[in-house]
Amino acid sequence: MQSQQQANEATAYLSGFGNQFSSEALPGALPVGQNSPQKVPYGLYAELLSGTAFTVPRAEARRTWLYRIRPSACHDQYRRLERQLNADLGPITPNRLRWNPRVIAEVATDFLDGLRCMAANAEPSQATGVTLYTYAANRSMQRVFFNADGEFLIVPQQGALRLVTELGVLEVAPLEIAVIPRGMRFRVELLDTVVRGYVCENHGCALRLPDLGPIGSNGLANPRDFLTPVARYEDLDEPVQQVQKFLGELWATELDHSPLDVVAWHGNNVPYKYDLRRFNTIGTVSFDHPDPSIFTVLTAPSAIPGMANIDFVIFPPRWMVAENTFRPPWFHRNLMNEFMGLITGAYDAKADGFLPGGASLHNCMSAHGPDNATTVKAVEAELVPHKIDQTMAFMFEAGSVLRPTAYALECPELQRDYDACWAAMGKTFNPEIR
Ligand SMILES: [Fe+2]
Repeated sequence: MQSQQQANEATAYLSGFGNQFSSEALPGALPVGQNSPQKVPYGLYAELLSGTAFTVPRAEARRTWLYRIRPSACHDQYRRLERQLNADLGPITPNRLRWNPRVIAEVATDFLDGLRCMAANAEPSQATGVTLYTYAANRSMQRVFFNADGEFLIVPQQGALRLVTELGVLEVAPLEIAVIPRGMRFRVELLDTVVRGYVCENHGCALRLPDLGPIGSNGLANPRDFLTPVARYEDLDEPVQQVQKFLGELWATELDHSPLDVVAWHGNNVPYKYDLRRFNTIGTVSFDHPDPSIFTVLTAPSAIPGMANIDFVIFPPRWMVAENTFRPPWFHRNLMNEFMGLITGAYDAKADGFLPGGASLHNCMSAHGPDNATTVKAVEAELVPHKIDQTMAFMFEAGSVLRPTAYALECPELQRDYDACWAAMGKTFNPEIR
């Protein structure tokens, strides 16, 4: 599908996913019929931003052509910033972990300063794995950032963000998500006084929609609901700091112009947003549950067929109608590694302790499930249809074990008594009563 749209200062979007898009902020800025003509309209420079190796299968290929005021190559040397991300891993622990919501600092903190690394499962140089963060901020970025180590999946929990990217503006509020491709310059502005949320940095293959198999051609997250910005450019000859994350470190250079100066673009390596309320939730209409993979919004494959490097899974409002069924999530020990967060409301497997803005980590083969209070209630519940409503939990489900950082294991938000939520689970076994 091709679509082309006149840009303006208002936030506007192109819809679709994985398709070839094009957008121009000035009429006729996009070269017609070729990518890199000798003279680009309006005296712009043509530049390619590739998101995959040139020779991957066509269905995998992601790249965008940018027509910009100055090439990205116009910059001085980067210098390593004194203030780095706190990504040092903590001691190995197989324990189940849970955190209270992060307190938002009062000192001036932008999105980049406000990133806290919670867990990781690979070095950024390995082209697989993820690094997981929370963020909390109280002022807009005055600088521009890009990540050479992977794409950013941003999950706002409190407060709306305005993501000013090279390709245009995405506004995202809680219950929406945004994805910024690897290498794309962007600035995070705040649309609310304080903001808080989660970030999954994906070092591997880019996120995409899962295959639907027997579900068919509709359902879960539908392609038409993914939105891509239209072109918008800044023609500003003013100093701006450009920060990059490279092999886990932050480096910066000073530009004499805004790098968000792309007047026109075409391609499929694009930032996008999605409203989680549009997820077409599918579940049982007889008994038992499908596996939670039925709630997958986006997936990024690993080298093992069928096993994701990272799945982004949600637990949205839905009707519970299963007959003769223990309706909360069952007790389980899984191969995959589960980092969960709560955007709003309550999660149906926990009576308390898992709060909006909080998080939990259950790694490979760690035994977990509903807490004691939820279990007791569910076994005795009258199984009439009821709606789990006003809630949105999510899971970053990773194929490799997520090592918590030293920060995550030492921060005051860590709940040191998390195991206690299963401690009161009584023995109900009686060989005399079936
Ligand atoms: Fe789980």
